[in-house]
Amino acid sequence: MSDEKTKPIIEIVELHKSFGEHHVLKGITLSVPAGSTLVILGGSGSGKTVLMKHMIGLLKPDSGRVVIDGEDIVPMSPEELEKIRRKFGMVFQAAALFDSMTVYENVSFALREHRKELGEAKMREIVRDKLAIVGLKDVEDKFPASLSGGMRKRVGLARAIVLDPKIVLYDEPTTGLDPITTDYVDEMILDAKKQLGVTSVVISHDIASAFKVADNIAFLYQGEIVDQGHPSTLRHTQHPGAKLFLQTWFGKN
Ligand SMILES: Nc1ncnc2c1ncn2[C@@H]1O[C@H](COP(=O)(O)OP(=O)(O)OP(=O)(O)O)[C@@H](O)[C@H]1O
Ligand SMILES: [Mg+2]
Repeated sequence: MSDEKTKPIIEIVELHKSFGEHHVLKGITLSVPAGSTLVILGGSGSGKTVLMKHMIGLLKPDSGRVVIDGEDIVPMSPEELEKIRRKFGMVFQAAALFDSMTVYENVSFALREHRKELGEAKMREIVRDKLAIVGLKDVEDKFPASLSGGMRKRVGLARAIVLDPKIVLYDEPTTGLDPITTDYVDEMILDAKKQLGVTSVVISHDIASAFKVADNIAFLYQGEIVDQGHPSTLRHTQHPGAKLFLQTWFGKN
């Protein structure tokens, strides 16, 4: 298909990664169409974070390809990878804001690092715009400690999108949050897609969130993608490991 939206922006082909004797990723193949949201679902230790680190070149595979926006990043030098990483925004778990910096300093961090030429007034304007996108206003001078968990997550997203990335990666964005805050974060992921057209990869073991935000779900089990597809089909997976995982949630609902 020629439609820009259906072109994969992330393509992983036959990726293998071991740490010593431990074969963590065993031939991962997946592709993420531009503008869509992929949720990678899997239990603790299944290799989710290791897989995500390959997408931004923080880890090199033993074999396989990682194609970002048409370029294989596996053979790239640190300088080339630096450029590729600007296509990405990362939303880490709760503690990832700099507590000693104001919201403004947190969100503008990457601008000051990469876009010094913009100047302070322009940076203020960009930060204000990004905060508005995540539904926050007049919080620039506050410190993270004075914000609620949901607001901190939103600041984290504003920081991740400040350089206008094409792709946003979320590593377990809702782990440890209460249901209402979880809901805020899910809405924020949906909003980022709607308002900015970003491609999102969300790593999670939160099944309810996964089914809410995903266009596609890939189920990672012991280092392999054992099933993937639209949430409505994955809901009826035949893979025993994936089935058991889903039953822990759907079984009680
Ligand atoms: N740098 C490393 N060196 C050695 N082993 C590693 C390294 N990074 C990850 N591993 C191992 O790879 C496996 C998968 O780890 P990973 O962090 O990807 O799990 P995960 O699916 O993200 O789990 P969780 O849901 O708990 O975050 C684990 O057994 C982990 O110990
Ligand atoms: Mg992890």
